[in-house]
Amino acid sequence: MSSLTINSMIRMNSGYEIPRLGYGVYQTPPDVAEDVVSQSFKAGYRHVDSAIVYRNEASCAAAIKKSDIPRSDIFFTSKFYSGSLNYKDAKAAISQSIQTTGFDYIDLMLLHAPYGGREGRKGAWKALLEAQDEGKIRSLGVSNYGVQHLNEMEEYMKELEQERGEGKGGKIAVGQWEVHPWLPRNDIAEWCEKRGIVVEAYCPIVRATRENDPVLKPLVKKYNKTASQILIRWSLQKGFVPLPKSVTSSRIVENAEVYDFELTAEEMETLKLDEYSPISWDPTVASLDR
Ligand SMILES: NC(=O)c1ccc[n+]([C@@H]2O[C@H](COP(=O)([O-])OP(=O)(O)OC[C@H]3O[C@@H](n4cnc5c(N)ncnc54)[C@H](OP(=O)(O)O)[C@@H]3O)[C@@H](O)[C@H]2O)c1
Repeated sequence: MSSLTINSMIRMNSGYEIPRLGYGVYQTPPDVAEDVVSQSFKAGYRHVDSAIVYRNEASCAAAIKKSDIPRSDIFFTSKFYSGSLNYKDAKAAISQSIQTTGFDYIDLMLLHAPYGGREGRKGAWKALLEAQDEGKIRSLGVSNYGVQHLNEMEEYMKELEQERGEGKGGKIAVGQWEVHPWLPRNDIAEWCEKRGIVVEAYCPIVRATRENDPVLKPLVKKYNKTASQILIRWSLQKGFVPLPKSVTSSRIVENAEVYDFELTAEEMETLKLDEYSPISWDPTVASLDR
């Protein structure tokens, strides 16, 4: 049977570990977030995926603080969204997250989307690096970057090394994208795999829009699992870190009950679909000038 458990972790290139399963809180209202994050801890999750624009960082932090789980055993992610990335706004956003949560450090801070042009992206990355040097952020990453943005990042990490010294251009520890069988993102996943970058999968259950899809039906039947559980299991077996979201008590538990079955290699093959069907936004396709 599967060696994966709810406590499975991946060691990132930052040296820190990230829990294999995350709990997403996009569109979770601030007055609900504290309670549902607490429920997620009872169900065994130890990883919360928030963002400044979700406006629920404070509620997530309150749940983390009031739990009897040590802070060091919980992984908290935030993201900084800007229609136009730049150094100054990124600096301010990091301070804001630290202030709002009251944490000494944020486990992972992501640049939410690549908009801002080359100089803006480079500036925002530099702000993340400085915060990492100060111990405010442990691991750094990007979200919704296309391969063109990732290649550009590699170039300017080298430029930053020249400015800041050897090894000081930073490392992308994690990238976050919409990933599921109808949007496998093979190019990005391959880029990350080659470099030891962890891929987080958002919308891992495709916002519950594929529950009756014929490709899932035989698996639902065979394993007596829900479509959501099959999709979360697919994501874990692909090596991704899925971030299912739910504010429904039974589903919070359901989405974590994915460790008592394993999809076979043939079944994983049946979920290999050559599709591009995003359900969320897709900034990966933005040009480098945007
Ligand atoms: N970086 C980015 O740009 C980005 C973009 C989107 C999302 N994300 C992150 O990824 C997380 C997940 O993405 P998402 O929330 O968009 O989509 P998702 O997790 O694929 O789907 C969430 C939706 O599915 C429902 N649901 C959850 N579990 C279910 C189950 N077992 N059976 C049936 N329905 C179920 C939820 O309803 P209820 O809540 O009512 O139960 C909610 O409507 C977000 O919360 C966020 O943390 C990041």
